[in-house]
Amino acid sequence: MSGRILIVDDEKDMLVLLRRIISEKTDLQLVTESDSVMALELFKKQPFDLVIVDLKMPRMDGIKLLEEVKKINPNVLVVIMTAYGTIETAVEAVQKGAYDYITKPFRKERILLTINKVMKWREMVRENLALRQALEERDSFSCMVGASPVMKEIFEQIRQVAPTTATVLITGASGTGKELLARAIHQNSLRSSNKMITINCTAIPEQVIESELFGHVKGAFTGAWKDKRGLVEEAHQGTLFLDEIGDLNPLMQTKLLRLVQEGEFKPVGSVVTKKADIRFIAATNHNLKEEMEEKRFREDLYYRLNVIHLELPPLKERKDDISLLGYHFLKKYTRANQKEIIDISPAAMQSLLSLELPGNVRELENIIERGVIFCQTNALEVRDLFPDNEHKTPYPCLDEDIYRLSFKEAKDKMTHEFHRHYVLSVLRKSRGNISKAAAMAGIQRQYIHRLMKEEGIDAKDINLKCE
Ligand SMILES: Nc1ncnc2c1ncn2[C@@H]1O[C@H](COP(=O)(O)OP(=O)(O)OP(=O)(O)O)[C@@H](O)[C@H]1O
Ligand SMILES: [Mg+2]
Repeated sequence: MSGRILIVDDEKDMLVLLRRIISEKTDLQLVTESDSVMALELFKKQPFDLVIVDLKMPRMDGIKLLEEVKKINPNVLVVIMTAYGTIETAVEAVQKGAYDYITKPFRKERILLTINKVMKWREMVRENLALRQALEERDSFSCMVGASPVMKEIFEQIRQVAPTTATVLITGASGTGKELLARAIHQNSLRSSNKMITINCTAIPEQVIESELFGHVKGAFTGAWKDKRGLVEEAHQGTLFLDEIGDLNPLMQTKLLRLVQEGEFKPVGSVVTKKADIRFIAATNHNLKEEMEEKRFREDLYYRLNVIHLELPPLKERKDDISLLGYHFLKKYTRANQKEIIDISPAAMQSLLSLELPGNVRELENIIERGVIFCQTNALEVRDLFPDNEHKTPYPCLDEDIYRLSFKEAKDKMTHEFHRHYVLSVLRKSRGNISKAAAMAGIQRQYIHRLMKEEGIDAKDINLKCE
């Protein structure tokens, strides 16, 4: 274990004690400082992996010092020392980015254990970051990431297809990344310096889609008081992305066929045929072949579009992508929200992997974005991802910070919670009648009384609530 630690405490005896404990058992380099302002100056000049600070100090308290060092180096790990009784402030410190806290007086083993944990975490984060970076570089194409064999195959197909002018049909369920894939093709094509124009065939009302696409001439219809260029002309020498093509009406299908086939179109109200040089990409979440067989989609147009077919499978069929996408979105949203969340806890990752995700990548992205907003520590936890549902631990009163409590503390807390829940339930059932409740529970009345007193439960209140 190697690394540098800065210890800050206004009690000099404590510094001596800590130095002795730590240097006896580790080879970590230690710097101690009793003045917090001086400590900050030191921190500006020298690199440290870990800072252990006392909470209560004159001049600058531990929380302020924590905030200041984090401003200088967001990745530094900070452990707060606190006297028993100020635990709430210590918890606040953890929410502000401290890695952990230790209560004073502490046992020698406790401090060594914490240091060990911090140093291991630091190692892990370093390795993970390096690994993830390498992975992302290898497992991505343009803005798309994917490590699953299907996605690798799709990346390979993009590489081959993008530079050609072949029409591409992209199919896949909602949120699987069809639009992103279209963009990746355009960006890697020879037309990337020109525009990719997207038309959402569902979003544009039927009456205006023709003029949106092909433009119109002055006087073509009421309100057409001057000539207007359509999106097709905008896309000249670039790419036209026809999103949700399955929703296009039969008349428009015919006009589109002409454009795809001959590169020709006519603005609404015009007698002049125009030409455009366009690369077409179409996408749909319908089964276009089925639509064609049922005569809802023109056969000739289908074959024109379906020169190259890329199918994006739903996320549940490419689970290998979930963790990579998770980290990808973590990076995106920590950056956007200026947060410092460096990891997704194993439990949180596990719960992501077990989700159904009918909304596919978009749904995963939304979950991570929300998690980043709620997250108060340096790793996304289950409670951040699913703040209000069943993905919580089976012991709601303990949540995931259970490791912060000793076994006895955790057990006491649970017992307490259980007593309260149980007594309230039997009392509700007996409508506040203590004798009945005792009989139901198979315990003495006195015991029920005692539990009620301990938990601050009043039978009268219960009776009222049951009315
Ligand atoms: N492989 C991927 N890598 C990174 N981000 C992705 C990937 N796939 C999808 N996304 C992201 O997921 C979101 C949804 O993707 P997109 O809009 O391309 O899906 P879609 O298939 O067009 O959805 P819809 O059918 O609802 O229109 C976007 O924010 C996109 O950036
Ligand atoms: Mg889309």
